[in-house]
Amino acid sequence: MSEPQSGSDTTSSALAPSRRGTTLGAATIIPYNTQDLDRTATANDRAVALWLYCCCAMILAMAVIGAITRLTESGLSIMEWAPFSGALPPLGQAEWERVFALYREIPEYLEVNAGMTLEEFKSIFWWEYIHRLWGRLIGVVFAGPLLWFLLRGAIRRRLVPHLVALFVFGGLQGLLGWYMVASGFAERTDVSQYRLTAHLMAALAIYAYTLWVAITLRHPRPAPSAAAATATLRRAYFALAGLVALTIASGGFVAGLNAGLVYNTFPLMDGDWLPEGYALQEPWLLNVFENVIAVQFNHRVLAVTSATLAVLLWLWSRRLELAATAHRACSLVMLMALIQFGLGISALLFVVPVWLGALHQAGAILLLTLAIWALHQVRPRRDRPV
Ligand code: HEM
Repeated sequence: MSEPQSGSDTTSSALAPSRRGTTLGAATIIPYNTQDLDRTATANDRAVALWLYCCCAMILAMAVIGAITRLTESGLSIMEWAPFSGALPPLGQAEWERVFALYREIPEYLEVNAGMTLEEFKSIFWWEYIHRLWGRLIGVVFAGPLLWFLLRGAIRRRLVPHLVALFVFGGLQGLLGWYMVASGFAERTDVSQYRLTAHLMAALAIYAYTLWVAITLRHPRPAPSAAAATATLRRAYFALAGLVALTIASGGFVAGLNAGLVYNTFPLMDGDWLPEGYALQEPWLLNVFENVIAVQFNHRVLAVTSATLAVLLWLWSRRLELAATAHRACSLVMLMALIQFGLGISALLFVVPVWLGALHQAGAILLLTLAIWALHQVRPRRDRPV
């Protein structure tokens, strides 16, 4: 994506009349100077970036609520797609009975929750309801200020297509969520692991995109560095961010197949480094997406690789003359990678209690956030931003 540039693009030092104003023929030139314009542009950028950071925080919370919804087996409790009227929960006993009757028709109720009472149903309903309501709220918090900033001319022109694209992606993510949920209404008792992972990765793509736009707006990107080592380190952080994203995708498959409920030992699986049954399915590629053993094993391998790379990059960064924020970013990535690794092992050993699963989900997003931040911050000590 082309990055939004920082620095004023609305000012020109050639146009700097005095503050008092000048009469030129009949027309009075309105007084301004470039410093005022610069200050306004900076204040606008700050406000826009703050708004985007708030949206990021809301998306992070949405992902955690989504993890809780899945872990409490609540995700299939609302059988209707009603983007507007669905904002209201059932009002009155008759409406509750109606939505419960819909739930009683799907395989999850018939095969897993048969005999569930209305009160028990309500407890799973509320998680899915909050998840969807939070999604709507993100839409409002994004679209409302977007319109307001646009009307005030507070958004740099080159930023507008990025923000419109983010709005469209947000809407599509709602649709993808429904497509995922719909896969659990017939035949199976849970949603497809493919659609779950697609939904998770799309959420993270929107998150990363929003974050990148916000960071770039407030912190100008580094100039192409003269120091080759720094440029290589930045590329290495790009690779790390990609690897973390891949680890997250593989985590989506672990979650989608409930693969965290088996082989709850670490580092060995079933007493082996490479568990028997890794390649049970034919064709072989199917194992990567559908075989619980292979899916869990791959997630472990990717996690070990991500954490090791984060430590190695941190060690490397210590040997380079970087800006102070760059050193801080590299250290935080390394620390978060180790914390996330620990959270993953704990989630596995304790057979994924809801709170640990949710924490592991949040940790994954924080790690990605820091990797993106480091990617942006790595620059030599006296680098001039562009
Ligand atoms: C860089 C490190 C790691 C990252 C970025 C990561 C990321 C993720 C993500 C995003 C999920 C899906 C969560 C969800 O959709 O609710 C997940 C699930 C899971 N991960 Fe990791 N993970 C990492 C390390 C580990 C490690 C080291 C282990 C254990 C050996 C582990 C075990 C699990 C388990 C058991 C699940 C399924 C949890 C559930 O059912 O909610 N993870 N991981």
